[in-house]
Amino acid sequence: TRRPVTVFLGTVLHFSADPWVPGHDDEDDPLAYHLFDPGALVVRDGRVAWAGHDHECPREFLRQGHVVDHRGCLIVPGFVDPHIHSGQVDSVASPGGQLLPWLRDYMYRSEMRFVDAEYARAATSFFFDRLLECGTTTACVYTTTHPHATDAFFSEAYMRKLRMISGKLLMDDDNHGSVPEEYLDGPVEEAEEECRRLIKEWHHTGRLLYAVSPRFALTSTLEALQMAGRLYHESRHTDRPLWVQSHLAENQDEVQAVIDKFRDTLDPRSYLDVYDKCGLVGPRSIWGHSVWIDDGDRALLADTGAGAAFNPTSNLFLGSGLFDLDGAGRAKVRVGLGTDVGGGTSYSMLQTMNEAYKTVALANTYPHPSKEKDRKTLTALRAFYLATLGGARALHLDHLIGSFHRGREADFVVLDWAATPLLERRTEVARDFRERLFVLATLGDDRAVTQTYVLGEPMLRRCRPR
Ligand code: GUN
Ligand code: ZN
Repeated sequence: TRRPVTVFLGTVLHFSADPWVPGHDDEDDPLAYHLFDPGALVVRDGRVAWAGHDHECPREFLRQGHVVDHRGCLIVPGFVDPHIHSGQVDSVASPGGQLLPWLRDYMYRSEMRFVDAEYARAATSFFFDRLLECGTTTACVYTTTHPHATDAFFSEAYMRKLRMISGKLLMDDDNHGSVPEEYLDGPVEEAEEECRRLIKEWHHTGRLLYAVSPRFALTSTLEALQMAGRLYHESRHTDRPLWVQSHLAENQDEVQAVIDKFRDTLDPRSYLDVYDKCGLVGPRSIWGHSVWIDDGDRALLADTGAGAAFNPTSNLFLGSGLFDLDGAGRAKVRVGLGTDVGGGTSYSMLQTMNEAYKTVALANTYPHPSKEKDRKTLTALRAFYLATLGGARALHLDHLIGSFHRGREADFVVLDWAATPLLERRTEVARDFRERLFVLATLGDDRAVTQTYVLGEPMLRRCRPR
């Protein structure tokens, strides 16, 4: 018997490379993106069977296939968020000032509520609802230090058939009393055992993957960072290598504190060097923020295949700084666009693109923003690249997700150009597709998401009729 086929009609957009043209930020490489307008996306067995112009859709698919009509809407690969915290659903939008006091006064306390297994499950379920209503189908996620909270995360993701990466937070240093004792891990051997148990249970269960997750260098002892590095290294040459996630050089006070903390033991050249000396930098490692890094750090990230998460809403909210997207691009660092909720202020990758554009506008000229000739920019096409294939590449998942190449897992999002009166009106007068896409990236949010599909199945109950 033939396997069922579904044909989705709409404007189809996806990427096979970064459309950025170095030195010509206003342009987009026409070979990097694929726009089919009107287009069709064909799904069989939860995978992409075909994508292209609707009039070229093979007749066999149209004959056997069930047709879902999203004409007038934009169909793109599901968004990939390489940096977000499921433990911070109840602490997003906390007025705690800059990074270190904000963590101390709001984040640790809020995450501690996950000690209650029932709360952990309900909060995690709420978290996935927010991701899906924004069109995010894959994320690399920080939970809390409680192993059962990571169990809850993985089991909720498994039920929804999502491709997700996560791991138990590792924290065993109270950073001068800023972390309550009850929230810290026990001895390093015990945290290691908890990680091994979670890896055995969840890594490659369905679409789930495990990331060794030391929170950041200030809340881990050297021994714990080395243990994390060992877990990652042991796995590297097996058929089930692990991921690594942590925070890097987000804020200048943090950077200075890290250098001071490890001066006597590691004599680090930079913040990233601390992680590198513990064996944590390499392929499938993803570094949140990476704001205050230098060319040596960028070269190390690029050469080892590590990824950086550009978290603009968070970097602006916490006053951390302006990520240098141009510098990362020139150094060929793998970059994805992350929300970093609860440091970030929106689950929406569209709103994250909006703030990314503003960050890029300032990054290379601030504090001399009048230097117009040095100004960089971010096209909407590149923003969509970063939010889809860019994130997938940063996480080394681009062979599975992030595009509509044949055989990829069929996770996608349907976006409505006219979701609000303002979007509708502004879109009508846009000159061309690129301008329409820019309007959507700037003014859009969860309201623009008509439907989110996971392995070809609709995940949102509200499918707005047009
Ligand atoms: N650095 C260490 N922990 C965190 C966190 O929870 N959020 C952010 N934005 N930065 C961090
Ligand atoms: Zn974070």
